[in-house]
Amino acid sequence: MGAWDGRRGWIYHLGVTPDRHRKGVATALIRELEVRMKKAGIPKVNALIFPWNDASVSFFNSAGYKVEDMKEAQKWLS
Ligand SMILES: CC(C)(COP(=O)(O)OP(=O)(O)OC[C@H]1O[C@@H](n2cnc3c(N)ncnc32)[C@H](O)[C@@H]1OP(=O)(O)O)[C@@H](O)C(=O)NCCC(=O)NCCS
Repeated sequence: MGAWDGRRGWIYHLGVTPDRHRKGVATALIRELEVRMKKAGIPKVNALIFPWNDASVSFFNSAGYKVEDMKEAQKWLS
């Protein structure tokens, strides 16, 4: 699931059913999202990745994304 927040393109959720892993499904999904965002004039896409998620870090590296060390801040409002 990806979206444009008015400033950046975001990949919010990316998941592939375990019995289909390592078959290029996530790569195809990401490429399709990139094509759609590019067509919409969105110049950059970001994703939030938990640092412990080795598969995700490895996946985004392989897809050509620059993986940065960042902190996440969150607060419940209700
Ligand atoms: C991360 C995830 C989306 C990858 O989906 P996928 O369809 O298996 O990924 P692809 O087949 O397109 O993989 C492309 C490349 O990414 C890397 N990669 C993907 N999964 C990997 C893993 N478990 N370990 C190491 N590298 C991995 C590999 O370089 C792979 O190429 P290769 O298979 O030729 O070696 C999948 O493991 C998943 O759904 N995980 C659970 C949900 C999750 O963590 N989502 C990410 C939240 S940000």
